[in-house]
Amino acid sequence: MKRVTTSTFRDLKQTGEKIAVLTGYDYPTAALLDEAGVDAVLVGDSLGMAVMGRSDTLSVTMDVMVHHTRMVSGAVQRALIIGDMPFLSYQVNAEEALRNAGRLVAEAGAQAVKLEGSVRKFGDAIGVILRAGIPVMGHIGLTPQSVHQFGGYKVQGRDPDARQRLKEEALGLQDIGCFAIVLECMPPDLAGEITQDLEIPTIGIGAGASCDGQVLVVHDILGWGATRFCKTYADVRGAMSGAFRDYVREVKHQQFPTKEHAYS
Ligand code: KIV
Repeated sequence: MKRVTTSTFRDLKQTGEKIAVLTGYDYPTAALLDEAGVDAVLVGDSLGMAVMGRSDTLSVTMDVMVHHTRMVSGAVQRALIIGDMPFLSYQVNAEEALRNAGRLVAEAGAQAVKLEGSVRKFGDAIGVILRAGIPVMGHIGLTPQSVHQFGGYKVQGRDPDARQRLKEEALGLQDIGCFAIVLECMPPDLAGEITQDLEIPTIGIGAGASCDGQVLVVHDILGWGATRFCKTYADVRGAMSGAFRDYVREVKHQQFPTKEHAYS
């Protein structure tokens, strides 16, 4: 089985084959994602909301990211494993950024890291990580670690200045050496223009169909999603809820365990 690498991402853009990415945070889910043929598993800091139940991603720490990335890398054999850099893991200085990116690779088994923001803001951090040989995925548009600066989870790039800024940010991330860029929550025509401007692939979330690939939070496609841009592919939430209710009822009514579920 041929492993997906960052060069595969570039090849996929060139051939026009769309890139399918989902987030994953644990061993069994990551194994199923890999078997299903996703091109990359993103261990996103969205786990702060999806599995830790927080209202934002800001409290996710490096230790948490290492813990979850290690579970994912134990399961994945084909897909590219991308570890997300959490809040304050790269914003303080370039040295800390490299140490933290290095932890995701050396301790946790990530093959690339993702961080939010532009070269103007984090060029030093991105440069030092790249020079150490770690591929970097950029992330612009609605960058959830800046939710308080944005005043909420809002679509970005609506006016001409903001559109121009996002285009420049995308080119800057390509020029510094990022292998791909996540475009989050922006008008589809803007995401399409950025995608055309770039040689590296764009991976959209809430950014329309013209991106080179798509990423969604795995829980959001399984029944926990409430955003307009996500689609429920299976009601796993409903299935789990039903199973838990059935179990409780059967234990209460002494219908479980029966003889088949006991040692003779
Ligand atoms: O944290 C995350 O999962 C992400 C994706 C949703 C792009 O950044």
